Amino acid sequence: MGNWDSPQNIVLIGFMGTGKSSVGKKLAQRLGLRLIDTDTEIESSTGLTIPEIFQRDGVVRFRSEESLVVKKAASWRGVVISTGGGAVLNPENLAVLRRSGIIVTLTASPAVICARTIRKGNRPLLKDDNSPEKIQKLLAERDYAYRQGDLIIDTSDKSLDEVVQTIIEFLEEKRYGKN
Ligand code: S3P
Repeated sequence: MGNWDSPQNIVLIGFMGTGKSSVGKKLAQRLGLRLIDTDTEIESSTGLTIPEIFQRDGVVRFRSEESLVVKKAASWRGVVISTGGGAVLNPENLAVLRRSGIIVTLTASPAVICARTIRKGNRPLLKDDNSPEKIQKLLAERDYAYRQGDLIIDTSDKSLDEVVQTIIEFLEEKRYGKN
């Protein structure tokens, strides 16, 4: 697929450590599109890192900044949007994103998420406990939102290129990007 020529956005949703940021970057590159990463946008609009926002002002402030950024991101056309893992827990956010394009959910097993999130210590919600049990519990609470993707990919045993390729094939199959 050369150039993505569609007003639709491609929105990546899913739990922490499922690969949304890396996949978003690579997918945007392959399609020649702009990438909007909601966590990065929150950091630049507040001038604070995500852990700083959680620590100083708590989860409520974070979710409110996140909703603002999600609405702004969804107002773009023909971009890749990589969301923070909790962005779609707010049904309004999910609805706005859905109206703006195609939703792709990335998933992974609790063990894989645990291994991936150990490496970086930048997730406030897993700071004190990122055991597979805790991850499994959060995944179960969030399942209703994540299962709403138009395409759902388990990234546990896939390379970055394989995940990106799967998304591109899905877009081609559905003829997304063709006017
Ligand atoms: C969160 C996921 C994080 C970040 C914040 C909260 C969540 O993003 O937005 O720490 O509630 O799942 P990633 O999914 O990119 O790690």
